[in-house]
Amino acid sequence: MLEESIQELESGSLARIASATSLEDLETVRVQVLGRKGALDQFFKQMGKLAPDERARAGKVLNGAKQTLEAALESAKRQFAEAALRIRLDGEWLDPSIPAPGPRRGHLHPITHIQRELEEVFRSLGFAVLDGPEVETEYRNFDALNIPADHPARDAQDTFWLANGDLLRTHTSPVQVRGMERLGPPLRMIAPGRVFRNESVDASHEHTFYQIEGMMIDRGVSVAHLLYFMRIMLAEVFRREVNVRLRPGFFPFVEPGFELDIQCLLCNGAGCPVCKQSGWVEQLGCGMVHPNVLRMSGIDPEEWSGFAFGLGLTRLVMMRYAIDDIRHLQGGDLRFLEQF
Ligand code: DAH
Repeated sequence: MLEESIQELESGSLARIASATSLEDLETVRVQVLGRKGALDQFFKQMGKLAPDERARAGKVLNGAKQTLEAALESAKRQFAEAALRIRLDGEWLDPSIPAPGPRRGHLHPITHIQRELEEVFRSLGFAVLDGPEVETEYRNFDALNIPADHPARDAQDTFWLANGDLLRTHTSPVQVRGMERLGPPLRMIAPGRVFRNESVDASHEHTFYQIEGMMIDRGVSVAHLLYFMRIMLAEVFRREVNVRLRPGFFPFVEPGFELDIQCLLCNGAGCPVCKQSGWVEQLGCGMVHPNVLRMSGIDPEEWSGFAFGLGLTRLVMMRYAIDDIRHLQGGDLRFLEQF
């Protein structure tokens, strides 16, 4: 009687295990059949009441059933686990031939980029690329450029003065002086670099910005040479021919001095908001090197003449990419800079 009941429980439980669809189903069977106070436990409790020989037989069946059910539950559990793993592995996809991510590749700042392009062009035209210190003497930043202490031109370049009387250079022009002093004529040089002005920052002004300076001194250098090199430089920057014009402009270190304009690249001279309807955009300062400047750096103006020019690299980048606020370029915001 008891043995039959045990066998019924065993086969019924095996069927439930076989038809289980989840780990939870299996757990339910385990608790109800094998758990404490479960169905098998009830049978074990009845054992005590049986006669010894009957107890031996029933005990064997009962233990057998217990082992069979435990084994069946274990293997069913394992199957569920394997199936789950298979589904996960099918979903996860691994290609060991894909290169590892590694460090991200950087790129040059657009100002550095345009600077290097210009260095390349001028080097190919026989110009040396000179560097100068950002902390300059008052003499080279002003006096040697024909800007004496009482000259109003000093006020136009608001200056960061240092306690010892030196200053942060307000333009790259003092490198002209260094070039003339060190190399002498004939001389072809450019000097890109960082300059500083004590100005409040807005959409078109920064206290720190970049310029490129240029100078050529030789026998018989004229405005025609100046124009020739300016056209080459601007064509390189804007990647097309540009029309230029000279207007008189005052810079103490040149005579005559000019403002060089380019015909507006957006409207080709017809007039638009960028050129304020004039058809022309102011681009750079230039002129024929003032005899005083040559003389102060030990060059005889009777024998030598030269042109010089200076322009903002930062501004050039803004023109080339139509950037309307200088703070984008120098604010260090990578979301902006990564577009280039
Ligand atoms: N140094 C001038 C400035 O920062 C730019 C300049 C004008 C440079 C005329 C020159 C030049 O060499 O000839 O505004």
